[in-house]
Amino acid sequence: MKIPKHVGFIMDGNGRWAKLRGKPRTFGHQKGADAIYNVVNGCYKRDIKAVSLYAFSTENWSRPKEEVDKIFDLLAKFLKKYTKTLIKHEARLNISGDKSQLPERLVKEIDKVIEKTNHFTQKTLNIALNYGSRTEIVRAVNNIIKEGVSDISEEEFSKYLYTANLPDVDLIVRTSGESRLSNFLLYQSAYAELYFTDVLWPDFSEEELDKALVWYDGRDRRYGNIK
Ligand code: FPP
Repeated sequence: MKIPKHVGFIMDGNGRWAKLRGKPRTFGHQKGADAIYNVVNGCYKRDIKAVSLYAFSTENWSRPKEEVDKIFDLLAKFLKKYTKTLIKHEARLNISGDKSQLPERLVKEIDKVIEKTNHFTQKTLNIALNYGSRTEIVRAVNNIIKEGVSDISEEEFSKYLYTANLPDVDLIVRTSGESRLSNFLLYQSAYAELYFTDVLWPDFSEEELDKALVWYDGRDRRYGNIK
């Protein structure tokens, strides 16, 4: 079976999952965080080298403060609990997004995990956090201008993105029936296959991952060529 090198997950539907059960949205995020453990482990077990998770977009700041705080809290807990597993899989943590606006406690946790996993080169867990693709691209352009570079190749340009050193995204999975990219890894996903499922993120399991991978295996990737 053809296995993608890099899979991006848009983890949508936590709020609806909770609402269906008469619970607060934050309960849905809690269950969503639980699903991440299985899905990321499942990816590494299947030899997927890079996993990107859309955890918090720059637009998500408009949600109620209680919900935003809960997401950051879950993330800090996830990182603390998941460090050992990252080390077991020899996966490094990479953060895509502007860390400067995040709570100090979370940044400390992130920096700790990055320090412990930085030396790994084979696998990556990339968490998009306070992230937006257009902002990422404009930031890259501004850094290029600051460095006085006047001509740049696509490959060199990609080194200025948060995902420097990661392969292009081969497969994007979005849950909960929405079919949008929502400003997620736009440059990196230029040739990605897009898989949309009605399953809500807290219900996304290894079994669902396999369905996405079987679907991906059946795709004919031509990169603009004819066949
Ligand atoms: C989308 O569901 C989910 C989010 C905006 C946040 C995702 C965050 C987590 C799963 C928790 C922590 C993250 C990590 C990496 C441990 P939604 O709230 O938009 O759901 P809805 O569309 O049903 O309202």
